[in-house]
Amino acid sequence: GKDHFYDFVLKETNFTKLCITSSVLTVNDSFPGPTIHVRKGDTAFVNVHNHGTYGVTIHWHGVKQPRNPWSDGPEFITQCAIAPGTNYTYKVIFSTEEGTLWWHAHSEWTQSTVHGAIVILPAEGTTYPFPEPDGEHVIVLGSWFTFDVNKVVDFDLLSGAYLPKAEAYVINGQQGAFFNCSSEETINRISVDYGKTYLLRIINTAVDSELFFAVAEHNVTVVGMDGSYLKPISTPNVAISPGQTINVLLTSNQPLGHYYMAARQYVTEPHPDISNATTAVIEYIGNYTPPSSPIFPLNLPEHSSIEAANGFLSRLRSLASEEHPVFVPQNISHPMFIVVSEKEITCPNSSCSTFDGNRLSSAMNNITFLNPTTNILHAYYRNISGVYDTDFPDFPKLFYNFTGDDLPNGTVIPTIGTKVRMFNYNDTVEIVFQGTNVLDGAQNHPMHMHGYSYYVVGSGIGNFNNEIDPKSYNLVDPPELNTIRVPKNGWVTIRFTADNPGVWLWHCHLIRHLTWGMKTVFIVQNGDTPETSILDPPSSMPPCEKSFVNYIQ
Ligand code: C2O
Ligand code: CU
Repeated sequence: GKDHFYDFVLKETNFTKLCITSSVLTVNDSFPGPTIHVRKGDTAFVNVHNHGTYGVTIHWHGVKQPRNPWSDGPEFITQCAIAPGTNYTYKVIFSTEEGTLWWHAHSEWTQSTVHGAIVILPAEGTTYPFPEPDGEHVIVLGSWFTFDVNKVVDFDLLSGAYLPKAEAYVINGQQGAFFNCSSEETINRISVDYGKTYLLRIINTAVDSELFFAVAEHNVTVVGMDGSYLKPISTPNVAISPGQTINVLLTSNQPLGHYYMAARQYVTEPHPDISNATTAVIEYIGNYTPPSSPIFPLNLPEHSSIEAANGFLSRLRSLASEEHPVFVPQNISHPMFIVVSEKEITCPNSSCSTFDGNRLSSAMNNITFLNPTTNILHAYYRNISGVYDTDFPDFPKLFYNFTGDDLPNGTVIPTIGTKVRMFNYNDTVEIVFQGTNVLDGAQNHPMHMHGYSYYVVGSGIGNFNNEIDPKSYNLVDPPELNTIRVPKNGWVTIRFTADNPGVWLWHCHLIRHLTWGMKTVFIVQNGDTPETSILDPPSSMPPCEKSFVNYIQ
């Protein structure tokens, strides 16, 4: 593979959206940030210069980084933040991924504006498993706040208040046609030639919502997700969780004209936070009178269409071809069952003072993750004790009616701790994630694993049934993803082989849940010592200071 070199300069830049000018943290003054272009098997060296005012890290979402957790990026997990006025060079190793991934800041809420696409072309001398498209476009879906979220998060988290919500969704950084102060200039445009086929690389970077996406009057053909290929499926729309990427082919075979492509919130409640869709325009090139307004996609599902979301997920199949085989573990050495939940808990200390003495927390198997005072990779590699415990539970303490409206008493108060799970090389792991339905506004949780992709072998509504549900597993050609929605009142099962030694974060990609502690860490060992199982650390890692806020207290 080839080496590529990038400089990322983090700094505050002014943008005007929804009639309001705000200063937000960006990379190289652009929102979304620059696209990284590589081929499978290449390596990118990205020198991140922090010219901002708070510490930041960058994560390469979906890049497995074989044996190289040093450059994975999550703050408190594999590194401490790059302090203002300093820099750190990430070595991003592309191994098996092919398709679209993305990068984003991984220091609390900075990712809302610090993110960009990663385009991974087939290795030199190989081709796509579909006819070469005539053109390609990156479609970055994002969320927009009219203020710098990083500046309010501390207060809101400590007070336990509900966090601020996005005020608009954006496509390639633009708000589209249907928000305050929308105009011709606020709409992203893509030109197409009649009869051609384009590869659209769609990324959901929104920090707070799943999205539906559709192009008016056109079906799209899904060919890949999260950096792996899928058997092509033709669909009028897609559902995309925060963190996921979807590659689709769009053939411009409709009458010459202007068509909106649009994204809107997928929320399980009937009332969305943002009722308008964000839009961009597909313009056919040619000789015709442009319409006064582009055609809107009636094929975009309604906000609460669980059928559209689940229907889309249930159709996904890996390519499972000779060139792109699947390796689904058939025998499981480590079965786990993880209940994901959001809860209101009593403030455990006085600095967290709300009107009613409660704050919000999120948990996995009733454990709310406490950020350590250094980072876990550092503690693991240097054999520093007292930083984390290795007793993250494989099963919940209690099996109850997870999708009922009440919680039994003993399940309400999560334990707060820095708990990780250790695995050995080539352990075969199955996790049944069970969603709950207990807190008002309980949500789907897009669960993301670092360092890996995994096979999604089954999913369903209601409580997981160990007698019946495993019979429906797809162990032949399940989709290989790095982020999967756990339905708020349902379950999903994933499998993977622990073949990438390192320290890897697992978490919900709804950022407030991440902040509230819906995360854990898997440490995969290989042999006796970390030194022999992972690459050597770079000569300088950002130093760990005690200057950060711990949100869970
Ligand atoms: Cu896309 Cu841990 O993140
Ligand atoms: Cu969540």
